[in-house]
Amino acid sequence: MEPITVTEKKNNQYEIVIKRDFDDLFGYVNALAPDAKNILLLTDSTVNDLYADTVASGLKEYNLIKYVVPAGEESKSKDNAFKILDTMYENGFMRFDLFISLGGGVVSDLGGFCASLYMRGIAHIVCPTTLLSMADASIGGKTAVDFHDKKNLIGAFYNPVLIYDNIKVLETLPDRLFFAGFAEIMKAGLLADEKYYMWLIDNMYEICCKEFEAIEYMLETAIGIKKTIVEKDPYEKSGLRMLLNLGHTIGHGIESVMGDEYIHGECVALGCVAAAFISYKLDYIKSEEYYEIRDMFVPFNLPISISTDNTDKILNAVKFDKKNTAGTIRMVLLKKIGKAFVYDNVDKDLVKEAIEELNFKDED
Ligand SMILES: NC(=O)c1ccc[n+]([C@@H]2O[C@H](COP(=O)([O-])OP(=O)(O)OC[C@H]3O[C@@H](n4cnc5c(N)ncnc54)[C@H](O)[C@@H]3O)[C@@H](O)[C@H]2O)c1
Repeated sequence: MEPITVTEKKNNQYEIVIKRDFDDLFGYVNALAPDAKNILLLTDSTVNDLYADTVASGLKEYNLIKYVVPAGEESKSKDNAFKILDTMYENGFMRFDLFISLGGGVVSDLGGFCASLYMRGIAHIVCPTTLLSMADASIGGKTAVDFHDKKNLIGAFYNPVLIYDNIKVLETLPDRLFFAGFAEIMKAGLLADEKYYMWLIDNMYEICCKEFEAIEYMLETAIGIKKTIVEKDPYEKSGLRMLLNLGHTIGHGIESVMGDEYIHGECVALGCVAAAFISYKLDYIKSEEYYEIRDMFVPFNLPISISTDNTDKILNAVKFDKKNTAGTIRMVLLKKIGKAFVYDNVDKDLVKEAIEELNFKDED
């Protein structure tokens, strides 16, 4: 499969490659960091047990320092970032050395953050191991750690020199996480490419069985959609990049209130259903389209309803979404499947109606 080249500016280019093993990674390391002597390999405890030895075995000619953080969002902390930077300093890392992040979005966000800081930037190779990080988190240069209980509060735009997707690792990813990552892929089709969205639905069996050919095409196209958007709006200035937030406004509201029950991708699926409902209520799409969008998450094991007494709390969380402008609710809606746009002032009663439409309590 041909590499995908992301070009944000003339001198800011990197490749994304989709492979079925780690074999080609080592040639890329030699080519992209020809003077490196030290490599910091960042991973989390789960991925360490599964894949770190394979990656390390191909890097024996380097002074490889492995740094393992506990699996989970809590590891995306400033304390971990500074411990990693300390480790690099203590081991004499120089600017021409290399940082490799092997893991999901937590590891690539934390690793990218450290790589951006050390000597004002050291080469960073990302080896994503979750579907979410392959299709979304690793692309577009956003790196961050959580700070004072706020997600992603401190960070930088910092692109890697390579994203190396080995899709074989998806075989060990728990199904729930696989489908949560798939929600971002459905989102990509919904917001930018109707043909691709239909392809996803037509190939649901192959995707759910994680067949390699289907996963490769699915990933290549989702990456292409994100690439096109981040190339045109790398620093979230023109509003184009905001389209990637389809499903995230109400999704974040649900996540902040019901995060114990639903993981991020599941909240994105629910948020997409709610955004489709609002698009229908505002006459952009027909009711049949809304129901189709809603029901098509089901075969991919994604939720389309919640059961809660807390709709007001969810609405409040939506009102405080950081993308809103003073007093209004800004959301990404659909003109049709494959065409998203930003709607600046969604009435809060309509947002409430959309949350209530999702809410199926036992008595319903
Ligand atoms: N930078 C961005 O643009 C961007 C975009 C979206 C999300 N994110 C961030 O990504 C993070 C979420 O990423 P995630 O969903 O990948 O979560 P994650 O990195 O926490 O990984 C989820 C779990 O899967 C395990 N895992 C990873 N790969 C595995 C594999 N191949 N086999 C078995 N287990 C595996 C991990 O150990 C972890 O327990 C959040 O912190 C979010 O803020 C960033």
